[in-house]
Amino acid sequence: MRNDPFMRTYSPRQEALARAASQQAASAAAASRPAANTGAVADVLAAYLVKGEPYYRPVADEVELYEAAYSVRMPIMLKGPTGCGKTRFVEYMAWKLGKPLITVACNEDMTASDLVGRFLLDANGTRWQDGPLAVAARHGAICYLDEVVEARQDTTVVIHPLTDARRVLPLEKKGELIEAHPDFQIVISYNPGYQSLMKDLKQSTKQRFGALDFNYPEHDVEAEIVAHESGVTLEVAKNLVHIGERARNLKGHGLDEGLSTRMLIYAGSLIAKGVAPLAACRVALVRPITDDPDMRDALDSAVTTYF
Ligand SMILES: Nc1ncnc2c1ncn2[C@@H]1O[C@H](COP(=O)(O)OP(=O)(O)OP(=O)(O)O)[C@@H](O)[C@H]1O
Ligand SMILES: [Mg+2]
Repeated sequence: MRNDPFMRTYSPRQEALARAASQQAASAAAASRPAANTGAVADVLAAYLVKGEPYYRPVADEVELYEAAYSVRMPIMLKGPTGCGKTRFVEYMAWKLGKPLITVACNEDMTASDLVGRFLLDANGTRWQDGPLAVAARHGAICYLDEVVEARQDTTVVIHPLTDARRVLPLEKKGELIEAHPDFQIVISYNPGYQSLMKDLKQSTKQRFGALDFNYPEHDVEAEIVAHESGVTLEVAKNLVHIGERARNLKGHGLDEGLSTRMLIYAGSLIAKGVAPLAACRVALVRPITDDPDMRDALDSAVTTYF
């Protein structure tokens, strides 16, 4: 038996059970008709439905693994370097599962109230406003906390009761305990390697999540993505990917971070607009990633090898 102070004044379990029963049928229908479920979810979530299929090229078995994790509502951590497809993946999965997606860009100034909600003053006095985490938990959305490591640890712990067997969110200021909707799931993104001792997730946070590893896709797959997203030919895309791979080999030897798929798409987009490949690569690949003159020369010469 739980010993929640909130249970003495409020019985959310009864409400949650009733709500779950009425929404179960709608959720089942939504899951089987991912593209046309707009009418089946509460109005409050309509704005968060992913409209139209996002382009996502699977690179391994991440789609199946995520579906299995969602089916048991396992909290999921997407791990990987910047610009390798984590956000696109979660958008695609939300669309595929027919679930609304509420994304929160985390930062170090974020407080627990920014996530769970706060009382606001208006003409009629005060009224409670759910934060994004509370909206997702109450109504049944996928809540994506992007760059969660940026948030302070005392903020991150508010997700703890939602990410273990309890699946509840206490709204302490309001004296309410939200029982998470059956459709609710939490997803966080995490860039391994960017952490310092001061900024990392606690073990007690990490160990509440299953993790999917992301990385830059292998050559042909990445070229396919770059061609699709930027509009260049596959041949040009392959050259861009070659340059990306050369630069990634320099990580730890003068470069802090590899060239991301996102940067290759930027370069491709400029080329598709008629910019000369050398200039496009300078602007979109080389100049943003390093200020070191020797490193710039090395990267520029990699570019001239392929264009
Ligand atoms: N597997 C993929 N399928 C389709 N597009 C992809 C894929 N991987 C990367 N992309 C493309 O790369 C771009 C960058 O990916 P995304 O924004 O998802 O990166 P991210 O991993 O979330 O980066 P960050 O950690 O900086 O937020 C996307 O806009 C998309 O165009
Ligand atoms: Mg992202």
